[in-house]
Amino acid sequence: MRILVVEDEEDLRELICFTLESQFNADVVQASSGNQAIRLLDESGDFDCIVSDYSMPDGTGEDLYRHVIGSRQRVPFILVSAHSADTYQIFRQHPIAGFIPKPDIFKPLKRIIESLNLGAQEPSSRYCRVKTNVILKYGLLAQDLYIRLSEGKYVKIFRRGDVFDLHDFERFKAKTVEHLYLKSQDCEEFLESLNKNIAKALEGDPSADEVSAIVSSSIELVSDISKRLGFTNQVQELTRVSVNLALKSILKNLEQNKAFDVHIADKQGYVATHSIALAHVACGIASLLGWTSGPTFLKLSLAAFLHDVTLDNPEMALLQGIEDLELQRHRFNDAEVKDYLGHTLAAAKLAKELKDLPPDVETIIQQHHERPDGNGILRLDNAQITPLSAVFIVAHEL
Ligand SMILES: [Fe+2]
Ligand SMILES: [Fe+2]
Repeated sequence: MRILVVEDEEDLRELICFTLESQFNADVVQASSGNQAIRLLDESGDFDCIVSDYSMPDGTGEDLYRHVIGSRQRVPFILVSAHSADTYQIFRQHPIAGFIPKPDIFKPLKRIIESLNLGAQEPSSRYCRVKTNVILKYGLLAQDLYIRLSEGKYVKIFRRGDVFDLHDFERFKAKTVEHLYLKSQDCEEFLESLNKNIAKALEGDPSADEVSAIVSSSIELVSDISKRLGFTNQVQELTRVSVNLALKSILKNLEQNKAFDVHIADKQGYVATHSIALAHVACGIASLLGWTSGPTFLKLSLAAFLHDVTLDNPEMALLQGIEDLELQRHRFNDAEVKDYLGHTLAAAKLAKELKDLPPDVETIIQQHHERPDGNGILRLDNAQITPLSAVFIVAHEL
């Protein structure tokens, strides 16, 4: 949410701004007079709300409000004043969104902003996450990079052309910052170079850790970007090359008879680490059954890569199905529950968009929360669950 704060007393202005930034992660623009605020409105109009003082030397709150009600876009107006809003004729004639009595502004400001429900537009959707270890591989940056201070609040810390080196990587690691952010419009370009980089890694012999890092950040990117920009050609290509890379590492492990070391890192990256682990375990079970053909491994890995990417809340990937959801219902809101109940079909639909999708992958994704007793998300019965889906479901349970 973007808020214009208009107040000539500097200390009070800072307090209002700090409240809005810290409590609501608002993007705050300051003005010290009514006329300055009018200029800002005319230049870059898209504010969700205005918080304004009344008495100011260069243009009053009333001048500003008259400008607002005279313009096409009626931005909600909150008055901050030592005198009640009813004192002024203009506010009696044209009611305002809220009134805050000076000097105790903190609580009323919080209450009014909450009641306006301005948070509906999620500013973070303008950014995509990228792991710092992936950025390190590039060195020279082709895009601006941002750090997230809090939900919806981002600050640019690297510019196009800057160098991101090991020292930077260690610096962020020390502060437990694992992700930096790109503007959505730069994502496509970044994806293209990431695709090339992964293709290069496929030619060489990357370590299991390197593959894990690359593939998990790819899954995050596919999940983030497909929600914002759709399953574009570059996202599809990233899916394809990443699955091939993961598969190369899985096959090497199978050949050397090595158990896959499943380490689930943080909740943030849970969908990614869970998906990689699932690909390993599913291929492991398939090979124990003697199903060792390349296409089988590819189908299982592709399904693992995409099966949970549409989930908005990564914690939902921890749920095993309907029963688990019922037990933990209190932790999630209605929209999240709906998202969860629809995610098997939504992810299958996304997979279907992939050109040359091998047969069965769509079915495996659709069925990944089914149960032999018919108590799955889609309530399919035993006979409808395919053998490959069964392997996948068991691996998922593990
Ligand atoms: Fe799932
Ligand atoms: Fe899952």
